[in-house]
Amino acid sequence: MKKILELLTEEMGQAFEAAGYDGKLGRVTLSNRPDLCEFQCNGAMAGAKAYKKAPLAIASEVAERLADSPVFTTAEAAAPGFLNLKVSGEYLLHYLEEMEARPKFGLEMPEKPREIIIDYGGANVAKPLHVGHLRPAVIGESVKRICRYAGHHVTGDVHLGDWGLQMGLVITELKERQPDLVYFDESYEGEYPREAPFTISDLEEIYPAASAKSKEDADYKARAMEATSQMQNGLRGYRALWRQIMDVSLPDLKKNYDSLNVEFDLWKGESDVHGLIPDMVQYMKEEGYAHISEGALVVDVKEEGDTKEIPPCMILKSNGASLYNTTDLATILERMNLYHPDQIIYVTDKRQELYFEQVFRCARKTKLVKPETKLTFLGNGTVNGKDGKPFKTREGGVMRLETLVRETREEMYRKILESREKGREISDEEAEKIADIVAVSALKYGDLSNQAAKDYAFDMEKFTSFEGDTGPYILYTITRIKSILAKYREQGGNLAQVVLGAPQDEAEKALMLQLVQFHATMESACEEIAPHKVCSFVYDLANAFNHFYHGTSILKEENESRRSALIALLVLTRDVLEACIDVLGFGAPERM
Ligand code: ARG
Repeated sequence: MKKILELLTEEMGQAFEAAGYDGKLGRVTLSNRPDLCEFQCNGAMAGAKAYKKAPLAIASEVAERLADSPVFTTAEAAAPGFLNLKVSGEYLLHYLEEMEARPKFGLEMPEKPREIIIDYGGANVAKPLHVGHLRPAVIGESVKRICRYAGHHVTGDVHLGDWGLQMGLVITELKERQPDLVYFDESYEGEYPREAPFTISDLEEIYPAASAKSKEDADYKARAMEATSQMQNGLRGYRALWRQIMDVSLPDLKKNYDSLNVEFDLWKGESDVHGLIPDMVQYMKEEGYAHISEGALVVDVKEEGDTKEIPPCMILKSNGASLYNTTDLATILERMNLYHPDQIIYVTDKRQELYFEQVFRCARKTKLVKPETKLTFLGNGTVNGKDGKPFKTREGGVMRLETLVRETREEMYRKILESREKGREISDEEAEKIADIVAVSALKYGDLSNQAAKDYAFDMEKFTSFEGDTGPYILYTITRIKSILAKYREQGGNLAQVVLGAPQDEAEKALMLQLVQFHATMESACEEIAPHKVCSFVYDLANAFNHFYHGTSILKEENESRRSALIALLVLTRDVLEACIDVLGFGAPERM
């Protein structure tokens, strides 16, 4: 269905035409002065020059034409030429009835859905996820859900870092510790053991140890690099170890992402495109895109009009080794072949912006993508501590993602128990379950309510608060609605039979006016790849609901049809809120 502003604009356009002016002047927007009106139109001022007339005179003529409008109850001309507008309660009611009746509340689906791949998460195998992985996971997941909700065909790919130096480091360290393992016996031709010679906790210790050694010991590092390239070139024992590192590491990564409701359609990685690199490089050479510069193979990507220096995109190092760029380009090639995407969106730390600019330019120049394929970089800002520096543990170390999630759960659990002490009957077990659900909202909302590109400070106290612009506040509002609806049912009410009604007071109308903004919100969150827009919408909606709730007796309302209308409004509000938090990537408990 059409967005409310589109419909109001049509009505206004007709009034301009009826008064003898260009209908295009009738653009209606949300009011800048909510104390005076709900919507406004500035067309009279825009038209004043062309019609050589005072804007106020035009506005008055248009307002006259709206005297019996079924849409506007108020259309007032105000100096210097505004049209201040209020819509009729009946009109709002009809709009809400349509929303209620249609799938996705009547959100219009695209005529041609786009095929979109979202590359997000950015996990590296054998290395634990840390706080820096929070944003690419949380934002990417939400962008995926928003675009899907908006009607596009979306595939999420974690694009594992599984082919780099960390693998060589783990192999080197293992060899150091257990040189007798069969993987290191080059004359061995039999099958390798099915069990890995390490567990996930071993890996968690081995990788940091190896990484630390490589920073101090140049010879060790050289051996790790050599091991990496041997593994890449197919040395049997090393490939077998690679497989086992994957097998041990992946379930752990999945568990971490699960704890945040982050789910990928594809668990592909850098290793998947290894085999495509030789032909791709050959093609780039043959077509004359790539040339040798200081021993390395590069593609120039600077363009006319660049205001800053864009270095060439390196395809192969002077020793013939491929790089991060090379795998990203080969991945684009593979994605174009397998999924034919119209758009690929990358959600990663914004410090990779220049890197992606080089990769995108290179992909265009070498025609790995079609001219119309959109390549989009959504760079995320950093999670900082309260001191404004990147978030660390209390001891000053790297904060593991797992720890951050656990601490948030613990804090949420504490808060839930605290509110239980104020007289609610919730068992410890239920409190724990609820805490887990609410903790996800605290983390994700705390993150998503900030624009992706901005840094923010992680503030446990604020994020887990039941008050203010937080996930728990939104969930609290939803559970409040659910508990009223449950009581209504207990009293014999049937939710399937409730019927919406026209608003009876300002607070109720304000809630309705908020609900009708749903379509514009989803549309722009998708087009602008901006989950924070959904956050600010749910926050406004929750506030509008709570304001209405505090001033209205719902279950005690004696007039039956009025009570039915109030309950129907609650149902719609709950459903819209839940659809929104679902695209943000979290859910609500039944109670809290
Ligand atoms: N694994 C990478 C890192 O840790 C992020 C991957 C981002 N995606 C990509 N296609 N390059 O920096």
